[in-house]
Amino acid sequence: MRRFVVVAPRASASADFLLDDLPGTSGRLDVGLRCVRAALLLSHGVRRDAIVYLVLGGGPRAPRVMRVRGEEARFLRPDERSLAVLARKVLATSADEGAAGFVEVRQGIALAQGGLDRVVDDLAGAALYVLEEGAADLRDGALLDDADAAFFVGDSAGFDPTMRSRLAVIGARPLGVGPRSVHAEDAIAIVSNELDRRAAAGGGERPARHGDPAA
Ligand SMILES: C[S@@+](CC[C@H](N)C(=O)[O-])C[C@H]1O[C@@H](n2cnc3c(N)ncnc32)[C@H](O)[C@@H]1O
Repeated sequence: MRRFVVVAPRASASADFLLDDLPGTSGRLDVGLRCVRAALLLSHGVRRDAIVYLVLGGGPRAPRVMRVRGEEARFLRPDERSLAVLARKVLATSADEGAAGFVEVRQGIALAQGGLDRVVDDLAGAALYVLEEGAADLRDGALLDDADAAFFVGDSAGFDPTMRSRLAVIGARPLGVGPRSVHAEDAIAIVSNELDRRAAAGGGERPARHGDPAA
């Protein structure tokens, strides 16, 4: 299983945003929704082995986490507006209020009260990585062949020092996806692509690269 945890401290945890001005009214929930698309949607398909967590820290109902499981979620469409409509319906519910953990509010989509700790409880057994610019590259041995891995991703502002410290304390290993700073959803696409390549190569082997000795 591959899991992506998008840390979005300003993104709206409530339905109080405008579909016609998502970036300007939602604390950049649009970034999180594009991450959902990148992590879960293939061309004409859904990644059944992927889960996304949006850690939402903005607005009166925060902190709150939205979890989307590719194996079960239905009617996920790739365009941002459709995903925003879906998120607005999900976030408008109160099913998670007073609950101790995740509460499914639509098939494959669950909400939980709380922030990072709530997600960490859900990641038991997964190898933890934090996607960071300048960290050791995933193609240079920094990404191990874990059957179950979780990747923490920052939003448009990246991680603040407090979040970096928390991720270090829980043992998340820094991982880079290349020499340039890319958008969060693109970082997810690169990790997914690397994992796809490894799976296609039979698992365990890293893909061949320029300069490798001929087999
Ligand atoms: C738009 S970037 C954040 C940029 C922000 N200015 C910063 O300094 O962190 C959003 C997230 O994508 C991921 N990311 C972007 N480029 C990356 C890279 N080259 N390697 C690893 N992760 C990257 C990181 O998780 C980052 O927090």
